[in-house]
Amino acid sequence: MTSTRNHSPVLRITALRKHFRAAGETIEVLAGLDLGLQPEETLALMGPSGSGKSTLLNIISGLESWDQGEVELFGQVLSSGDRRWTNLRREAIATVFQEANLMPALSLADNIRLRASLAGRTRTDVAGWLDRLGLSGLAGRFPDQVSGGQRQRVALAMAFAMEPRLILADEPTGSLDRHTAEQVADTLFAFRRQTGCPMILATHDPALASRCDHTVTLDSGSV
Ligand SMILES: Nc1ncnc2c1ncn2[C@@H]1O[C@H](COP(=O)(O)OP(=O)(O)OP(=O)(O)O)[C@@H](O)[C@H]1O
Ligand SMILES: [Mg+2]
Repeated sequence: MTSTRNHSPVLRITALRKHFRAAGETIEVLAGLDLGLQPEETLALMGPSGSGKSTLLNIISGLESWDQGEVELFGQVLSSGDRRWTNLRREAIATVFQEANLMPALSLADNIRLRASLAGRTRTDVAGWLDRLGLSGLAGRFPDQVSGGQRQRVALAMAFAMEPRLILADEPTGSLDRHTAEQVADTLFAFRRQTGCPMILATHDPALASRCDHTVTLDSGSV
C-alpha cells in the first residue's frame, strides 16, 4: 500500500439521501448525511430503531441504492449499483451481522476457509483462527451443532481471515446474552486493534459504542 493511499480516507459520504416507499408511504431515511472514516478509525452508528443504521451499512457495502449524494470508498467514487462493489464485497469489505450467516452444509472450518479463499486468501491458517477464537475442537462441527455465541465467533473468524480493508458490523452482539456478548465484543475489538482495520459498527449498546473512536447518531433522517 502506498503512503498516499494510507492517508486518504477509507470512506467519505457527502449529502447522502435515501428514501423508501412502502404501502403508499414515503419514508425519508437519510436526509443529507455527511460522514467520513479515516484509516484505522472506528465509528459507532447509533440511533433509534428505524433511524437508518442498517440502511447506511447496506449502502456502504453496495447492497442498497441511494437517491442523491456521493459515496467515496478507498479513494474511488462509486455510483449506486456500481459493479466494482461486487469485488469489494468479496475481497475488501467484511460484514458481521446480528446472526452469523454461515453455510449450513459446511463445517465451521470450511466456512472460514471458503470465506477466506473467496477473498483470495488461499493459504489461510484455519486451525490458527479457530484456536485464536476459542473454537479449537469444533473445527468439524456444522453450524447447527454449536451455540449462537460460537457461530458468532466463526463469523468473526471469517471476517478477519479475509484480511479486510473495512469491517461493517451491524449489531454483532445483538442476539447474544450479556456475558457472551461481552466475550464476542472483546474478541472483535482485540482483533480490530491488532490489524488496525477500520470499522463501522451499528449498535444500540452505549457501552459498545464507547469502545469506538467516534459516534454518529442517526435520528429520523438527520444527524
Ligand atoms: N426495503 C425496505 N422497504 C421499505 N422500507 C424500508 C426498507 N428497508 C428499511 N426500511 C425502512 O427504513 C427505515 C430504516 O430502517 P433500518 O433497518 O435502516 O433502521 P435501523 O436503524 O437499522 O433499525 P434497527 O435499530 O431496528 O435495526 C425504517 O423505517 C424501515 O422500516
Ligand atoms: Mg438495523
